[in-house]
Amino acid sequence: MSETITFSPAPSVLGFGALNKLPEILRSRGVKHLLIITDSQIAESGILERVLDMLKGTMKSELFRGVPAEFRSSDIDAQKELLGSDFDALLGLGGGSSMDFAKAMSIIMTHGGSLGDYLGEGSVPDPVIPVVCVPTTSGTGSQNTQTTVFTIGGVKRGVSSEYIRPAASIVDPELTMDLPPEVTRNSGYDALMHACESFIARPYSQVPARPILYQGSNPFSRGLSLEAFGFIWRSYRRAVSDGGNRGARLDMSTGSHLAGLAFSHSGLGLVHALASAVGGMVAEPHGVCLAACTGIGLSYNFKVCEKDYAVLANVMCGIDEGAAANGGGNIFLKKIQDLIKELGFPSKPSELGLGKQDAEKLLENTLLQTRRTKTNPRTLDDELLSHIEEGI
Ligand SMILES: [Fe+2]
Repeated sequence: MSETITFSPAPSVLGFGALNKLPEILRSRGVKHLLIITDSQIAESGILERVLDMLKGTMKSELFRGVPAEFRSSDIDAQKELLGSDFDALLGLGGGSSMDFAKAMSIIMTHGGSLGDYLGEGSVPDPVIPVVCVPTTSGTGSQNTQTTVFTIGGVKRGVSSEYIRPAASIVDPELTMDLPPEVTRNSGYDALMHACESFIARPYSQVPARPILYQGSNPFSRGLSLEAFGFIWRSYRRAVSDGGNRGARLDMSTGSHLAGLAFSHSGLGLVHALASAVGGMVAEPHGVCLAACTGIGLSYNFKVCEKDYAVLANVMCGIDEGAAANGGGNIFLKKIQDLIKELGFPSKPSELGLGKQDAEKLLENTLLQTRRTKTNPRTLDDELLSHIEEGI
């Protein structure tokens, strides 16, 4: 167990117009040769053009615009020419995939080999070429995290290392204004669960030391996740129903950014572990799998989290009704389930096609998600299987 906690945020600029600071941020880091990594949608959206115009004449830049929605380790290996080039920084411009792709490229560009050599926690031996991130969604918080996620051998896996935490980020809600409602819904739910699961994570004093800062909940992460939860709860529905609402978009950018910063210092828990397992069994977006697994995960943790749920219920009721909650942790669970129904999410894994016969497999795959389960507030015990069978 660790007696100390570490807080290691990178510089970030947040707010409308933040993107204008990009040349300054790169210049101040001495960047002269930049690789911009993005996907075809961003490349065609006009955002890329803005970035290229901004950087014109300030540095040499090259472009990779082929990030797939869910990339595989072989997609990185295929970039032989880029991997051998001499870049002094990478820019991840886009959603979680583009940012994660940039982190993955930085590992192989610096240390060689292939992604499979670095799976798990702490296998990247030394620092990497710096990655600067500009997210265009309000969800993953990948601009703040020390993990890249990809598919290898048909399974979703991750590489986690403090060396791949982005060197800086720019979070400009203007870039999210044109996101369609479904993307806003799915990415926003991810951010909401980051805030919840970071807030309720197992206390750091009960988490064995590990090579990354998923160290359990602590005073840094608790404050950030609670604040993040308030921003997201206040504006999530509005951002989905009225994407042109600038205040709602700013709140979602702020909330998702803070939530990413929080969970990258605390770790997450059972809802994410279950959702990763379900995500490997059905082809559905991360946010949808999270919604379907929320009931099982949060109710399993109820007996050790009731007080924390009551704190979150107070935030919700303060926003929704202008008054404190009266009734504690159950109000939190009910409000989350009402939200899931209202936004048209599945509320159980069975709504994604899984059945009771899949419960054992789901448990097995969930227990493999040790990156998440080590910081779940309740120790996973024999009751989990029956709990999954009931909740599926
Ligand atoms: Fe997530």
